[in-house]
Amino acid sequence: MTALRFPPDFLWGAATSAYQIEGAPLADGAGPSIWHRFTHTPGRVTNGETGDVACDHYHRYAEDVALMHELRLDAYRFSISWSRILPEGTGCVNERGLDFYRRLVDALLENGIKPMATLYHWDLPVALDDRGGWLNRDIAGWFAEYASVVFRALDDRIHLWTTLNEPWVVMDGGYLHGVLAPGHRNLFEAPIATHNLLRAHGLAVSSYRAIGGKHPIGVVVNLEPKYPASQNEDDLAANARADAYMNRQYLDPLFRGSYPEELPEMFGEAWPDFPAQDFEDIRQPLDFIGINYYSRGVTKADPAGGVERAAKVRQGHAIHTEMSWEVFPQGLTDVLVWFRDRYGKLPVYITENGAAFYDPPVAIDGEVNDPLRIHYLGQHIGAMAEAMRRGVDVRGYFVWSLLDNFEWSHGFSKRFGIVHVDFATLKRTPKASARFYREVIRKGGV
Ligand code: FCB
Repeated sequence: MTALRFPPDFLWGAATSAYQIEGAPLADGAGPSIWHRFTHTPGRVTNGETGDVACDHYHRYAEDVALMHELRLDAYRFSISWSRILPEGTGCVNERGLDFYRRLVDALLENGIKPMATLYHWDLPVALDDRGGWLNRDIAGWFAEYASVVFRALDDRIHLWTTLNEPWVVMDGGYLHGVLAPGHRNLFEAPIATHNLLRAHGLAVSSYRAIGGKHPIGVVVNLEPKYPASQNEDDLAANARADAYMNRQYLDPLFRGSYPEELPEMFGEAWPDFPAQDFEDIRQPLDFIGINYYSRGVTKADPAGGVERAAKVRQGHAIHTEMSWEVFPQGLTDVLVWFRDRYGKLPVYITENGAAFYDPPVAIDGEVNDPLRIHYLGQHIGAMAEAMRRGVDVRGYFVWSLLDNFEWSHGFSKRFGIVHVDFATLKRTPKASARFYREVIRKGGV
């Protein structure tokens, strides 16, 4: 492998999210979130697992920050749980909830680690879901209210802000396919959820500007570049629909002020008319984009393939992760270059990248050998460097994830961590990939 050098101020980090690691979801006056309700509904999660304990990060954050320090992380991306801060979603502020994040951020800063906070990583307060959740237009205002509380409390200590994590997944998993909270399956709800997520993001960014926020703010999208299975017309059209649905559905309104032209036809009578003013609210100038990259999609036409009328073609020759996601590093280069060409030269952070593989149990000597994860990370860091060589302004990279954690409807069955967690004892053991990553950081490259 050729040596790759990154700029000295490049941020090397790791990412997590609140519900996936914290545990103690109702501690210190927090209200329940939709993920608390979803995991306690029989049949929703593999083995009936919940985030009640997860990694117990709520109580062990100091140990986890010490680990981050050992790994030489420059930055740490975490999310804030809305219902810890506003147990009813709006109105009364729970200072004890804010205190947890104050303690966490202070510990990070004491260890020289820059905090990147995400305001929404899927854990909507139940109280707001009961009022329609992402389907209620008022949610944009509710989110801006919550965001302002957090901005005021923490802006002096947060290095980078992001509003939403992966609005596509919230819509697709939560409102169309029902595999994530709140578990709806409704074609008519999907575009409304998308639109309100985008409006909420826009209003939160304007309130940040209004209170004179001092740090860069952006949003995190998951991008999956789409490649047609053949050059036949039907596959090309299917590929464009898949791309419109997953990638441009969010980026076009954020940066161009309109939805992709494919969507009204794809959703048919389920596609509503949206007020023109909303697009002004959505299209706020952003300081950076956060991109989560895991895999690509190779697409062929399939009339039975849902709203996209498309199907993914599994690549027989490729390595796939435990999620059945194809390992395709070049997709990261391609998607970064595509983003820059289509939307302009905005600073980019890779806010998530990583892989679940089967890991052997911790050996007697404390080793967890995870060569496939090391390979995955090395290849993707190389692919990111290639995009930078082609002029994409990438400022940082966050491994998903610091810790093995609660992988949503898969429960604890998918391990993404560079640090192994024994969910019986909660003991943390850095895997070989953690040592690999530490060396990448130490050398400023691979
Ligand atoms: C992303 C999510 C993250 C985690 C990874 C594997 O879609 O943002 O919480 O589940 O996938």
